[in-house]
Amino acid sequence: MEELKKEFEEALKRISNQEELKQLKAAFVGKKGKITALFKKLKELSDDEKKEFGKRINELKEFVEEKVKEKQDELFRKAKLESLQKEAIDITLPGRTPFGGGIHPITKTIMEIEDIFRSMGFSVEVGPEIELDLFNFELLNIPKEHPARDMQDTFYINDNVVLRTHTSPTQIRVMKREKPPVMFISPGRVYRRDSDLTHSPMFHQVEGLLVDRNVRFSDLKGVLIEFLRKFFGDVPVRFRPSYFPFTEPSAEVDIGCVICGGKGCRVCSYTGYLEVLGCGMVHPNVLKNVGYDTDRFNGFAFGLGVERFAMLKYGIDNIRLFFENDIRFLEQFSFAKGRVL
Ligand code: FA5
Repeated sequence: MEELKKEFEEALKRISNQEELKQLKAAFVGKKGKITALFKKLKELSDDEKKEFGKRINELKEFVEEKVKEKQDELFRKAKLESLQKEAIDITLPGRTPFGGGIHPITKTIMEIEDIFRSMGFSVEVGPEIELDLFNFELLNIPKEHPARDMQDTFYINDNVVLRTHTSPTQIRVMKREKPPVMFISPGRVYRRDSDLTHSPMFHQVEGLLVDRNVRFSDLKGVLIEFLRKFFGDVPVRFRPSYFPFTEPSAEVDIGCVICGGKGCRVCSYTGYLEVLGCGMVHPNVLKNVGYDTDRFNGFAFGLGVERFAMLKYGIDNIRLFFENDIRFLEQFSFAKGRVL
């Protein structure tokens, strides 16, 4: 037994992993182990000897099992330590900056336009992009032969349904639903067969409509000048006579060129001014078409191209950049770069 004990202790010293330990344990206290074999010898002994001898074998067995357990724990701790050292993280390395998502410049521009008009008391309405010819043209006082109805400008779905060419049909929808007074803006996508550096087949407009008693052209001027100064800063604003079938009188609004500061450049065709929106007093025919009493109510309306506003605000010279989804372009508007409106 002493020899077995020594043999076991020597073998234990050479053990370096769990598998070897398992085999060593089996060799001594397993079913066919050397210590287990000693138990079989007991029957050859007298009763007294059995007692003494049995006790000592049991002690040896317990000793072996305890040492195996200790070794097992030791090997486990060693393996754990090694794996921790191998997987160690260098916490002094600089972190990777996560990619910061942002709001698309067109969405951002619409949000800012909405904020300004909300602060003046306008509500926000939305209309459908697939629209009745009746609302997109007819009830807006655009007769059948008007050039804006030309096949080149309009995407027709069928004879009576179009992709709306402007946000003005929302005027008709809201006025048909609500009694006057009304005061709202309506942002959204519009479609035209049009494509070059400053025109895209799909673009965004924001419509505005105010109908009440005794509305004057000076109210329209006041609202638009206030809005343009809030959006672009302190720029010169001028109203030019123009024509829209659904407003009378009509005007187009120019602001002092934000690129050259009014000195004259390529962008403003050396005029010092840039056209930014169309507007006018709502044509009485439009009010009649929705059942409003034109003896008691009148109003003003305006419509602006969002891409134009965004291009001027951010100094972008090609409208397609908004729709190509080039991450290098969009990234410049991300929150992570700190360029929040
Ligand atoms: C209209 O669409 C009128 N409904 C605006 C209006 C509303 C006038 C209410 C009076 C009262 P116009 O066709 O000019 O007007 O378009 C308005 C703006 O949309 C233009 O000034 C321009 O900035 C923008 N726009 C027009 N076509 C395109 C296009 N293909 N791509 C991008 N922007 C465009």
